[in-house]
Amino acid sequence: MQRVLERHIKPLMIEFPTLGAILEEAGIGCTSCTLGTCRILDILEIHDLDTVQIQSLLQKMGTVIYQGAPFQIPTIERKVSAPKAFCPPIQRMVVEHTFILRVIALLPRLVIALRTDFEAARPMADQTLEFIRTYADRYHHAKEEDILFRFFEQGSDILKVMLQDHEDGRGHVRAVAMALENSDLAMAEQHLLAYGELLKSHIQREDTILYPWMDRTLSDRQVGQLFAQCSVVEREFGETPAMQESMVTRLEALLN
Ligand SMILES: [Fe+2]
Ligand SMILES: [Fe+2]
Repeated sequence: MQRVLERHIKPLMIEFPTLGAILEEAGIGCTSCTLGTCRILDILEIHDLDTVQIQSLLQKMGTVIYQGAPFQIPTIERKVSAPKAFCPPIQRMVVEHTFILRVIALLPRLVIALRTDFEAARPMADQTLEFIRTYADRYHHAKEEDILFRFFEQGSDILKVMLQDHEDGRGHVRAVAMALENSDLAMAEQHLLAYGELLKSHIQREDTILYPWMDRTLSDRQVGQLFAQCSVVEREFGETPAMQESMVTRLEALLN
């Protein structure tokens, strides 16, 4: 079983397809992961499973992998961290997610407004794109990419997935901008909704898996460095984030 812990999840799931359901049952969504090359050992760490949960999961996985042959489960001692508030710089990013999610929730209504009267709804679409580019991407994603994620192993599988999501999101935004320029409603609609689905799932994974793991991994000294570096970004952006946050409320009033 020790060798299994070192294996990457995706090839293992291809070899033993029923493992997907076992992982899902344990709250681990590897089946829907776009990359899925994490090692089993890393998955146990990132998802904060305790010793009993690990033993139970490995028992079920071993039964599938060894198909009735005897196997030994290595003892992995782990205590689940007590739930606590995130450190302030990460907590701020969680708050930013709430504004991004509020805009994502408006996207289906924006699509209807564009369908109803494309030219009249165009300023709202432009404001939405401005929010996504300035707040969600240049401000929030830049803090993640240039600061928070840099405290962790660059090129790790989990970060690759998150960075790829950011890139895919940028691709959707470029496509929406081009579609609006060309008055191509179908294209704008397709990429607006795809962006919303992508970011919703991305933020859910950050709030429930990535950020909790990062928060409990950072030392006090690193939290201090994170806070200092984020403060520099806050100063650079000045009033812009607060203005964009107010704009969300105005957009909600227009589209509700
Ligand atoms: Fe992100
Ligand atoms: Fe984020």
